[in-house]
Amino acid sequence: MSHSPASGDPGHGQSKKRVLLLGATGTIGRAAVGALRRRGHDVVCIVRPQTTDPAAGPRGPAARGQGPTPPVEGLDPDQVRACDVTDPTSLAAAGFRGERFDAVMSCLASRSGMPEDAWAIDHDAHVTALDLAKDHGVASFVLLSAICVQRPKLPFQFAKLAFEEKLTASGLTYAIVRPTAFFKSLSGQIDRLRAGKPYLLFGDGTLTACKPISDNDLANYLVDCLERPALQNKILPIGGPGPAVTPRQQGEHLFHLLNRPPKYRKMPVAVMDAIIGVLSVLGWVSAKASRAAALARIGRYYATESMLLYNAGKGRYDAAATPTYGTETLFDHYRAVIRGNAANERVETAVF
Ligand SMILES: NC(=O)c1ccc[n+]([C@@H]2O[C@H](COP(=O)([O-])OP(=O)(O)OC[C@H]3O[C@@H](n4cnc5c(N)ncnc54)[C@H](OP(=O)(O)O)[C@@H]3O)[C@@H](O)[C@H]2O)c1
Repeated sequence: MSHSPASGDPGHGQSKKRVLLLGATGTIGRAAVGALRRRGHDVVCIVRPQTTDPAAGPRGPAARGQGPTPPVEGLDPDQVRACDVTDPTSLAAAGFRGERFDAVMSCLASRSGMPEDAWAIDHDAHVTALDLAKDHGVASFVLLSAICVQRPKLPFQFAKLAFEEKLTASGLTYAIVRPTAFFKSLSGQIDRLRAGKPYLLFGDGTLTACKPISDNDLANYLVDCLERPALQNKILPIGGPGPAVTPRQQGEHLFHLLNRPPKYRKMPVAVMDAIIGVLSVLGWVSAKASRAAALARIGRYYATESMLLYNAGKGRYDAAATPTYGTETLFDHYRAVIRGNAANERVETAVF
């Protein structure tokens, strides 16, 4: 698949659309702001109150020390609206404001992935946004989801799936985009390796594979979903260009770029299971242990499940059948980060 026009004109013969964007301060949300604007659409971003007023509270990018929020740059104040997405009244009054929008695009997602937050954000806040979209006569809804929901085991995956079902039944034109792994999730070990430490692998590093997709390629694809009828009313698994890569291959490539001999530390999955077991028991009496167990279960999932299309009939992941899009590869990104030409976005779970 090729890119759509990036000339400032909406592509695919479409007219300019007015888009309400949720999650505009996240990794893909920021890229989506850029893609929407480059393609000539009007974007109105919904952000947390703390984003526009860093002094106001403990959450949001400013509170995490990541500085001012990029989507605010270049947009009119009227295009960046602070409201609480968990509160229908706030989202209606401060977000939609009774105005006309052609589409809602959502890159909103729980930051923690913890069950309560996942249901509040990945499900409930989206249901509120969908209800308001219907009330405001919005025609279409583009949802950024995740390919891992095809084999759900974790609470946040069930929360996402439950909303996907509501969206498909809503009567709105929809596109549910289920991407594979993002670059940031596969770049967490670069600093370790620079510091001379070994690359951490689960099993032998070939248990899983993915077709990584860049932030910009994915953002362009989301805008395609807004413009191209062929992508609408569909659930769309999507990966980046090139062959699937395993964690072992990612490590090999990083050592090659750093000009260092490969050095690995392997963690058997059974050890992970034992750790999860102990934390789960401790979790009955300690909230901290319970949270650590939940995080470890998330880690185990990604250590053992590929981010590729799953063929249920054959009982295996299928790299060849996983659709691809875009031009930017993970290994180009690694090269740019190591040469200092690209930022390495910090993720809370650095190994994944
Ligand atoms: N990481 C991967 O490899 C991967 C792969 C496939 C799919 N995905 C999926 O892609 C989606 C987006 O990922 P991402 O990395 O772009 O997400 P992200 O960087 O964590 O951004 C999440 C966005 O949601 C907002 N948000 C979260 N909780 C909120 C709350 N309580 N109130 C208001 N806003 C809130 C955040 O606002 P603040 O900036 O104010 O926190 C931010 O704008 C997720 O659904 C994820 O599951 C991820």
